[in-house]
Amino acid sequence: MLNLIKGLLLDTNNLNKDGIRIHKEPDISEMRKSCQLAAETLDMIGDYVEPGVTTERLNTLCHEFMIDNGSIPATLGYRGFPKSCCISLNHVVCHGIPGAKRLKENDILNIDVTCILGGWFGDSSRMYVAGKATKKASRLIEVTHESLMRGISAVKPGNTFGDIGAAIQQFVEGKKMSVVRDFCGHGVGRSFHSAPNVLHFGHKNTGAVLEQGMFFTIEPMVNLGRPETKILSDNWTAVTKDKSLSAQFEHTVAVTAEGVEILTLSPDEKFFPNIAT
Ligand code: MF3
Ligand code: CO
Ligand code: CO
Repeated sequence: MLNLIKGLLLDTNNLNKDGIRIHKEPDISEMRKSCQLAAETLDMIGDYVEPGVTTERLNTLCHEFMIDNGSIPATLGYRGFPKSCCISLNHVVCHGIPGAKRLKENDILNIDVTCILGGWFGDSSRMYVAGKATKKASRLIEVTHESLMRGISAVKPGNTFGDIGAAIQQFVEGKKMSVVRDFCGHGVGRSFHSAPNVLHFGHKNTGAVLEQGMFFTIEPMVNLGRPETKILSDNWTAVTKDKSLSAQFEHTVAVTAEGVEILTLSPDEKFFPNIAT
């Protein structure tokens, strides 16, 4: 009985020496489903982002889409978070709470959704623009997306988490922008947040070694100004201290024998759906 409880509730099996869960082959197909639903939610919501819409309305659309597709929005009630997605506008770095605010022309926003499907968590976020982005904002968004992809390119068995952070930091700072230090990516799978902390800065050849079967997120937050953040009095909303614009993209990835599978890639190959190109 004790073993059964330990097995079911704590499930300390299959953790490696760094406390990181190593998943089995069949788990990845379950994760794929949940992650693809997160990606479809982000594809869907792109059509509704425009000046005049409230972030509450975008939240409701995401909520309904996730529920209608058999999933539970993981953020709703998570540590008291009141909504089904996070919407972070302009100088908001992350964890913005959807509400009555209406989008206006040139606003940039991150929408972050996490679906629980069949017990598996799929976590992803992208940037959107209300109307047309300013030049500065487009550059920030492009650099942030590219930094995520460079971090992902460092994922393969035998590389380290430091390799991921270094790839992101080096690219972002080379563009004279800054990487937020106060928030990080995380292990994900049958729980929302688990080991390890996936830092978006650091040094090559440091940190835990990547192994096939790890699932985690990479979700760099990049600021046009300084990296420091502060939390508003709602105890959730993180903003840049210097009020500079901030952007973020997030993918859930799996370490495979060959390298990496991006589980939350858009089925429609969208990445920032409504930026005119
Ligand atoms: N989805 C966020 C992440 O990428 C977590 C949001 S937690 C919430 O890890 F409570 F703010 F919703
Ligand atoms: Co995440
Ligand atoms: Co997220």
